[in-house]
Amino acid sequence: MPAQGSGSAGHEAVGSVAVRTHADHQNPERTHATQRPQPTLSAHQSMDGHQVNAMAGDPSGENPTQFADYDELPEGHFYDPDAEYEPDPEYAATLAPDAARQRRERIGPTGRPLPYFPIPGPLTDHGPAKIIAMCNQKGGVGKTTSTINLGAALAEYGRRVLLVDFDPQGALSVGLGVNPMELDLTVYNLLMERGMAADEVLLKTAVPNMDLLPSNIDLSAAEVQLVSEVARESTLQRALKPLMQDYDYIVIDCQPSLGLLTVNALTAAHKVIVPLECEFFALRGVALLTETIEKVQERLNPELELDGILATMYDSRTVHSREVLARVVEAFDNHVYHTVIGRTVRFPETTVAGEPITTYASNSVGAAAYRQLAREVLARCHAE
Ligand SMILES: Nc1ncnc2c1ncn2[C@@H]1O[C@H](COP(=O)(O)OP(=O)(O)O)[C@@H](O)[C@H]1O
Ligand SMILES: [Mg+2]
Repeated sequence: MPAQGSGSAGHEAVGSVAVRTHADHQNPERTHATQRPQPTLSAHQSMDGHQVNAMAGDPSGENPTQFADYDELPEGHFYDPDAEYEPDPEYAATLAPDAARQRRERIGPTGRPLPYFPIPGPLTDHGPAKIIAMCNQKGGVGKTTSTINLGAALAEYGRRVLLVDFDPQGALSVGLGVNPMELDLTVYNLLMERGMAADEVLLKTAVPNMDLLPSNIDLSAAEVQLVSEVARESTLQRALKPLMQDYDYIVIDCQPSLGLLTVNALTAAHKVIVPLECEFFALRGVALLTETIEKVQERLNPELELDGILATMYDSRTVHSREVLARVVEAFDNHVYHTVIGRTVRFPETTVAGEPITTYASNSVGAAAYRQLAREVLARCHAE
């Protein structure tokens, strides 16, 4: 067998050299496995469990001629010129974006420089409310979690907040410790019964400054009954009107559909927040959602605008999450909030506890994330 690679110029040749054990040959799945004849170059273990060529990415050129003589291959090893190489993970790390620069420029998880969102000052008077619809026709993306926790964080900053449970499943109500089945009056009554006062339906939550319009399964009937109403799309808008002066923010937790209830929420709203789970298919259906938002804008509510896409359940340790987030930023650019909500079991726990994460685990990363989101939302509102 000819000698491969010599001197530092033989770097590529070194990279192209693969040595497989006899056992690897028997098991062709493990094509990356490399056994070194030299004891000085033991094979590395890469993150996915494959054995990796420690030399392939050696940038120093300090090990130039290790594979010069294949006559030295131990019994049961053979040379494989076609084997592919994975880079040495340590070397790959040196190619990753410079951590020092990231700290200096405060690059956020979305890959853009992270602006500073100031802590909002106290308010002396309140209202009229900005209405935010938390909307995505996909279920399980973090609408309810974001409604509760954004609301609680805004309330912590001294804003008066009203949360509207606009999903017949009543998850928002449950998440705030209310049993929807025991309710006599809900947002359904407010929508469907003329002369019903909001005060009769409103509930105080355990969070100071934050109230709730609860809902339960009754609301599912509204979807059908509203069809024959006059101005059926603006029923919620009319119901919220008397409350506008009492609050700074009203956040509507939409149901996972683009039906009449959601159109009502969009018609009432000034802004839409679209939570997107950092999972495969996250962007599926978003085109339909933005189309719906545009239609409502054109026909029913010219004030409506997409405030932001909120990436949720992000796990920076997985390449997958990072890729999905990069795609979302590519698609929506500055509409993506700088704040990204990480995946943590603390959120499901808060649902069981029936309170927001800002009180349940006040010092947790999740609580900090929603506080930052609140500051970002406030900064965007003040910038207008
Ligand atoms: N950042 C997160 N990390 C982990 N779990 C989360 C996170 N956000 C929400 N969840 C959980 O995911 C599930 C769906 O979230 P939810 O807010 O109810 O979504 P939606 O209202 O869009 O259906 C819930 O069990 C919730 O506790
Ligand atoms: Mg929900």
